[in-house]
Amino acid sequence: MTKIAIVYFSATGHTEQVAEAVAEGSKSVPGTEATLLRIVGEDIHQGRWKNDEILKTLNAADAIVFGTPTYMGGYAGQFKAFIDACGGIWYQQLWKDKIGAAFSHSQGLSGDKLNTLSGLMINGMQHSMIWIGTGMMPEGALPENTNRLSSYSGAMAQSNMDQPNIGPGDRQTAVLLGKRVAEAAKRWNG
Ligand SMILES: Cc1cc2nc3c(=O)[nH]c(=O)nc-3n(C[C@H](O)[C@H](O)[C@H](O)COP(=O)(O)O)c2cc1C
Repeated sequence: MTKIAIVYFSATGHTEQVAEAVAEGSKSVPGTEATLLRIVGEDIHQGRWKNDEILKTLNAADAIVFGTPTYMGGYAGQFKAFIDACGGIWYQQLWKDKIGAAFSHSQGLSGDKLNTLSGLMINGMQHSMIWIGTGMMPEGALPENTNRLSSYSGAMAQSNMDQPNIGPGDRQTAVLLGKRVAEAAKRWNG
């Protein structure tokens, strides 16, 4: 069984919808299980995030997909607290050769999401992960088009705060990223 862990922060639910779409795509690959792990502010005490159960699940996964809304052009603070709490894992290189990928949701069409994805990709490189991008040409720039925001380092999604659901193109982009991650993990593990 190939294990995909999707670890994300979401305050108002949009990034969570992207995470769920990634899980759906991963599970479409036979022999794959996907686990959604939500980072919550309640696990941060005196600025430090701690949740040993989540770390245990991540350490056991074949692939980790990281997701955060873009806040002020970068990670949400809650997600950065989680990323920093993984410093001990980095020191032991426990995630070396795991498959890694990322996604970000923001309100702006750009909103500087690329900076968030670049940060997540660099974090993956520090952990010596094998990075999987979208591998997807943009179908167009309409809401129903896959990879409409032309992102290669990870999946981007955008919606306005008064929109309850992410758009169909962004949703499908996340499904396809999840599928690609699961296929890569399966191939990589032989
Ligand atoms: C503190 C803060 C900073 C934000 N900064 C940005 C930003 O730099 N670019 C942008 O497009 N949207 C920005 N937004 C909008 C968020 O990206 C949006 O609320 C988020 O993606 C919604 O995701 P969620 O429903 O999963 O919480 C910001 C929102 C907050 C609360």
